[in-house]
Amino acid sequence: MKNVAILFGGKSTEHEVSRSSATSVLNHIDKSKYNVFPIGITKEGKWFQYKGTFENISNGNWEKDLNNKIADGINILLNKEVDVVFPVLHGMYGEDGTMQGLCKLLGLPCVGPSVMSSAVCMDKIYTKYLLEHEGIKQAPYVVVNAFDYGIKPEEFINKIEENLGYPCFVKPANSGSSVGITKAQNRESLKAGLVEALKHDRKILVEEGLNAREIEVAVLGNDDPKASVPGEIIPAKEFYDYEAKYQDAASKLMIPAALSEKEMTNIRELSIRIYKKLDCAGMARVDFLVDKENGEVYLNEVNTIPGFTSISMYPKMWEATGLPYSELIDELIRLAIERG
Ligand SMILES: Nc1ncnc2c1ncn2[C@@H]1O[C@H](COP(=O)(O)OP(=O)(O)O)[C@@H](O)[C@H]1O
Ligand SMILES: [Mg+2]
Repeated sequence: MKNVAILFGGKSTEHEVSRSSATSVLNHIDKSKYNVFPIGITKEGKWFQYKGTFENISNGNWEKDLNNKIADGINILLNKEVDVVFPVLHGMYGEDGTMQGLCKLLGLPCVGPSVMSSAVCMDKIYTKYLLEHEGIKQAPYVVVNAFDYGIKPEEFINKIEENLGYPCFVKPANSGSSVGITKAQNRESLKAGLVEALKHDRKILVEEGLNAREIEVAVLGNDDPKASVPGEIIPAKEFYDYEAKYQDAASKLMIPAALSEKEMTNIRELSIRIYKKLDCAGMARVDFLVDKENGEVYLNEVNTIPGFTSISMYPKMWEATGLPYSELIDELIRLAIERG
């Protein structure tokens, strides 16, 4: 039996999404192989071991459940009561290399990529910088930082209009779940979008809006990673924003994506190339934008702790590739220990 810490919640804007993902992991992990230690982190950053029901984790009631909430959450890691840590935490303080750093300091194997790889993948601007050296096609972009924008906003607006035009996407560098992301159709909404994005980050990425299909690939492995069959997202709204992701049942997931054999092979190979360039390990979901007119493939982003609910793309794409959810968890734990 291995002892596994399953971390959920966290300080990021994706706290709620993390609770759903973690509940799903807890429901699917093989309890005959693992002793599970669910550890909740509140939005304020307090850690607790949680011994109550998974349902309470899912609906958020765990925080009020004083009988089952034990204030030794972080000690489980510090005292090395577990063999491996699965941070089912999306976004900042979970997916960005910080938790990976804590585990590394403690010598605890951690599911997913390393400190450096997690940090680069979390930061949409650094992902761009790194991959453009490798000739990976990405949407044209302009970087805006809070300090310079405060001094000369018009200069940035002009640069964006000249280089990108409308529509364009305004994204906090460290966003996730589309929080703080807007699609700007004109100067007014661009300015409003920048104000919104700057609430979340001091570095903003503005990208040319592509008229594109959204194709994703689940990649799994350490030195010899494998790519799943690609899937496609058909957002119920103008773009795949927070509501379309989690609240609007009309968004559709198609697995496998409607692509030709050749397109499938290309995109799977490309996702592995990107995964290796970013030095990923364990897992990552590689998201593409495929031009609706000419089929050109652009990298959109790489998620190192992708959504993990039973209806999320990452586990569903593996299921469609022949790896059921609980075996996927086994493999992630095995990969973490191998790398650790
Ligand atoms: N350059 C772009 N062109 C067209 N649509 C985009 C572009 N960038 C983002 N989007 C849309 O916005 C959504 C969220 O952007 P994304 O970069 O994936 O952020 P997040 O990390 O929050 O998921 C995408 O799923 C897609 O629907
Ligand atoms: Mg995305």
